Parts: sequence; structure tokens; C-alpha cells
Amino acid sequence: MILAIANQKGGVGKTTTVVNLAAALAARRKTVLVVDLDPQANATSGLGVEPAEGISLYGALLRIADVNDFIVGTSVDKVNLIPSEVNLAGVEIELARMEDHLHGVSKVLAPIVESKVFDYILIDCPPSLGILMSNALAAADAVLVPMQCEYYAMEGLSVILNLVERMRRTGANPDLRLEGIAMTMYSRTRLADEVVSQVREHYGDAVYKAVIPRSVRAGEAPSYGIPLVAYAPSTPVAQAYFILANEFLARERARAVAADKTDAVLPPKSSSQA
Ligand SMILES: Nc1ncnc2c1ncn2[C@@H]1O[C@H](COP(=O)(O)OP(=O)(O)OP(=O)(O)O)[C@@H](O)[C@H]1O
Ligand SMILES: [Mg+2]
Repeated sequence: MILAIANQKGGVGKTTTVVNLAAALAARRKTVLVVDLDPQANATSGLGVEPAEGISLYGALLRIADVNDFIVGTSVDKVNLIPSEVNLAGVEIELARMEDHLHGVSKVLAPIVESKVFDYILIDCPPSLGILMSNALAAADAVLVPMQCEYYAMEGLSVILNLVERMRRTGANPDLRLEGIAMTMYSRTRLADEVVSQVREHYGDAVYKAVIPRSVRAGEAPSYGIPLVAYAPSTPVAQAYFILANEFLARERARAVAADKTDAVLPPKSSSQA
């Protein structure tokens, strides 16, 4: 299953969500591949991998090499990575020139999906509405949108949700669904509370119950190259990401049951309940 973590707005917690969700899923015995699709390479360094020229999806997208050649290990057990590097920025131009410029990433990731080596593939998107992000949305089964608990965040949210809708409507990715909205960098203020309740009012169950608190620990984690979830699992931010991962897995299970109705036929209730 491919999950794109996307929001065209910068600094809302996309990368922090990618690396911590990956680590939390790994702690639940899932195998995860993180695909860093942002030339800033923050997810790459956040997982303890030094960005290196030539080691990114760039080569695979230009059909220079097999995509499997770019998968590397990270600081977290069971989390693998396709790193990013500055050259990835050039891919925007190369992709734009391709005939089917929206499906480059989807085609490159297809053999990895088919191999079923990974339970989840998480794509960290760059903060723009460019071709890389569109490619991520075209490749994904679902989108997770992190949004900061601040006043103007709602407007940004409608932009990304409209894009998701457009991917469906135009047929670029007819089955793309919104996996959920994760509220990030929450601080106990009246404004933050207002934003959270407004977003819940508008988007209902799409909003995760887990709210990620603001903490300096989250800000310093990238410099260690290990997600907070892995090196300080008892901190409030790490705990919130564990809850988010549990919700994510619960939604996945619910969807699997709904998709296969025959599996949903439950055994008869025990006689004590009759
Ligand atoms: N819960 C949090 N509390 C405090 N700081 C946080 C939290 N989550 C993320 N940060 C910090 O805020 C900054 C932006 O976070 P992050 O890089 O995850 O956002 P992003 O959406 O990926 O940014 P970009 O759009 O540039 O890719 C980083 O310095 C990060 O360490
Ligand atoms: Mg980022």
C-alpha cells in the first residue's frame, strides 16, 4: 500500500510524520519503505542516511538503473529508504518532458509493490504543487495530510483536498482516497483548540483523534538522524505518533474487511448474548 504524505504548505510536519509513522509501524512489526521525493532530503537525513549524488529515484525515473538498486537501510530496523538528493529537483523538468508525465513515479514503484516485500510505502512529498507531488498522488493508494494547528491552515487544506479530488476526476488516479488529516504542532492555546474543532467540524472522521503536540524534542530529532519514536518513545510527540499509527492500522483493517464482504460475515453471537 502506497501512502503519500502531502501538503503543499511548507513546514507543516510532513517529514516528521513520515519518519515517525514509519518507525511506529516498524515497531508494530510492519516492513516499511520510505520514498523521499523532496529534493531537500529531510526524510533521508532524518533516517540517518547521508544524501549522496546519484542515490535517489532520479536514476530510476530516467531509466538509468533498476529501482531496487536505490533501496538502502536506515537507522531504524525494518525501515528502508529510497533517499533523495539535490538532483531530484531536475526530475521535475525531465518528467514534464515525458509523454505520460504524471505516472513516472507510479511506474518506477510498480515492481516494488508487486514484490510485496514492504507492507507500506510512505512517500514524503515536497512542499509545492509541482510535478513530483502530482506524481506521488498518482502513484498513491491514499493521502495523509498533516496540517499545523494554526489559523490559515484550513485554506491550505482545501487546496490539497481539491488536488486529490482532481486526481480522481481526471482519471489520473481514480481510486485515490484521503486516508486522513493529522493535526500537528498543537500547543495548548485557545487558537489551536479553535482550529482543531473547526477542522473536525468540517472534515469529521477524516481527522485523526491523535493530535501531535508541539515540542522542542521533535525539532532537535532530525539532527540525530533517528526518529523520535525510535530513540525517545515515551515522549509525548512519540506517543502521539504511536496512536496515529494505531489509528492508521485500524482504518486499514476496517477497509480490508469492508472491501471483502465475505470476510465480514461474523460467527454467530454466543448464547449468553442471545
Ligand atoms: N511536533 C513538533 N513540535 C515541534 N517542532 C516540530 C514538530 N514537528 C515538526 N517540527 C519541526 O518543524 C519543522 C518542520 O517540520 P517538517 O520538516 O516535518 O515539516 P515539512 O512539512 O516536512 O516541511 P517542508 O515543507 O519544508 O518539507 C522542522 O524543523 C521540524 O523539526
Ligand atoms: Mg519535509
